[in-house]
Amino acid sequence: MAEIGSDVEKAASLLMQGELVAVPTETVYGLAGNAIDVNVVAKIFAVKNRPEFDPLIVHVPSLRNADTFVKEIPKKAERLAQLFWPGPLTLLLQKKNDLIPPLVTAGLSTIGVRSPDHPLTRKLLTALPFPLAAPSANPFGYVSPTSPQHVNDQLGDKISYILDGGVCEVGIESTIVGFTATEQAVIHRLGGLSLERITAVLGEVDVLTHSTSNPSAPGQLKSHYAPGKKLVIGKIEELLQVHPAHSSGILTFSQDYHSQYQRILSPGGNMEEAAKNLFLFLREFDTMPIDIILTELLPEEGLGRAINDRLTRAASVDNN
Ligand code: TXA
Ligand code: MG
Repeated sequence: MAEIGSDVEKAASLLMQGELVAVPTETVYGLAGNAIDVNVVAKIFAVKNRPEFDPLIVHVPSLRNADTFVKEIPKKAERLAQLFWPGPLTLLLQKKNDLIPPLVTAGLSTIGVRSPDHPLTRKLLTALPFPLAAPSANPFGYVSPTSPQHVNDQLGDKISYILDGGVCEVGIESTIVGFTATEQAVIHRLGGLSLERITAVLGEVDVLTHSTSNPSAPGQLKSHYAPGKKLVIGKIEELLQVHPAHSSGILTFSQDYHSQYQRILSPGGNMEEAAKNLFLFLREFDTMPIDIILTELLPEEGLGRAINDRLTRAASVDNN
């Protein structure tokens, strides 16, 4: 198992030596390594068992730190970074050279850049002379980790150190925003920064929906973010007529079904609280003696959109 501790200097020194370290962010834990060393980047793909067509996000202390590897930054990107960085927002910016190896970006002409909002990881990024490539610290296709224990459970035998920053505040991955040739903003992944907060600044933006093949962001693959148990979405009352309560997990937004295997995302109906609990609860269902998870969609507003996106993808996995 990996060592879990909050020693930023130790994490920095391991990263300087080309090791991988799991790091906390406000969204989910990342599996971090030196983004400019192709051998380290290759290790990230290997540890996650991630296909090389799925690009990694590069983490920087601030937008200025991206100047060495991205071309001129669109005005709208600049504006979003000003308002929402550090925070749960990834910007897809044009690469200007191969300082960040093509393996990181899966050969794409854009690079996903994010400045995460967690004090330990910010300290780490500031101390290091290179940016950190960091996908979510889970095996490819599985639910993202929101605590050091989640990382240890799945990747503990493959990495030596997990920087302990507690439970992730936001709990759902960053919102990914790209830009067209005419600098129109396009949302590639709904996430921890709500659509409403982005449209309040930029006006209407397109949202790419997920697909089953040839996605523009492979994390957009429809079957992704899946727990080990089969998950179905519908009206809980109706689902309970088909699936017996004694062998079903129930995941609701706020309603209580008084079932033994139930998790309520937010009894008070708060989207932020629901997002923070989502991945923890999906993991908990995996340890329960149930055959299936019954769940419902949340209202399509605020973080509810991103939560619904993850639930819909989890439901489209065939893992009977
Ligand atoms: O909140 C987050 O974004 C977390 C934390 C650790 O920062 N990271 C994360 O990384 O969720 P990952 O690798 O699990 O998901 C990154 C997503 C993938 O779906 C990938 O396809 C997409 O970002 N992505 C990265 N670079 C891209 C690019 N240049 N163009 C399109 N999609 C990109
Ligand atoms: Mg991921």
